[in-house]
Amino acid sequence: MKLVHISDIHINSDSILGSDPIDNFARCLAHVESRHMDADRIVITGDLTHHGLESSYVKLREMLAQSRLQGIQAPRLMIGNHDNRDTFRRVFPEAQTDKNGFVQWTEETPEGLFVYMDTNEPGTHAGHYCEQRQQWLAGILDQARTDGQRVWLFMHHNPITVHVANADLIGILQQNELQSILRNNVDIIGHIFFGHCHYTLSGSVGGVPFSAPRSTNHPCWPEFSGDPRVMAYGPLAPNYNVCFLGNGGTVVHSIDFLNEDDIIRLTAGEDGWIAESAAE
Ligand SMILES: [Fe+2]
Ligand SMILES: [Fe+2]
Repeated sequence: MKLVHISDIHINSDSILGSDPIDNFARCLAHVESRHMDADRIVITGDLTHHGLESSYVKLREMLAQSRLQGIQAPRLMIGNHDNRDTFRRVFPEAQTDKNGFVQWTEETPEGLFVYMDTNEPGTHAGHYCEQRQQWLAGILDQARTDGQRVWLFMHHNPITVHVANADLIGILQQNELQSILRNNVDIIGHIFFGHCHYTLSGSVGGVPFSAPRSTNHPCWPEFSGDPRVMAYGPLAPNYNVCFLGNGGTVVHSIDFLNEDDIIRLTAGEDGWIAESAAE
């Protein structure tokens, strides 16, 4: 099964750290449309907007409505710390929620159950996965175990310390509780997909492997100085991930979509490699 994992699009009318999030997300969408119309799922793991403004959600809605993906493989939309849950739900009234009003839900896929989790907490950039949400997740996992289903988790915030001081201040605050749920279900969870940090990440948490893309607009530099006041960024390529999920394992590719025009394709000929333009 093929999954396109996009994160941190930060739709905003003004540029952010010198980059235009609307133009960059448009280019990301165009790239996905040109290369991955065969994806089984496309998921955007939050920070849909930069300030949670209604006008930004309306712009996102318009962009998605005009996309060739709409109707074929509409991206699943999750919220992050830069989002406003109520405003998001007003502009996207079809968004699914649990019985407590959190934007979290599940979906059957060819490779098992996708679980979309809501780690947003109004008034803070830190991630929260409160007791109500933990109970919801534990119940979903219990049922999946009974049903013999494999599970794939999606969330915005990092569920583990990433050793970058400014990022670790705003990871999920209930890491211990969440990690204990993960450890108890390590045998049925295939992978965790998150965003939030804005740099390419991979590793494992509670024994479960994870990956995160960089953001489609303003990737960050992992700064290990230990000073929580410092965040670093620069001319780093925005990206999204293309993931292949199966019983044999998970493969995650990083796609630096703005670099596509500079890619040179070579074809093996009788006398060696032939560049694409010369081969035509
Ligand atoms: Fe973000
Ligand atoms: Fe975030």
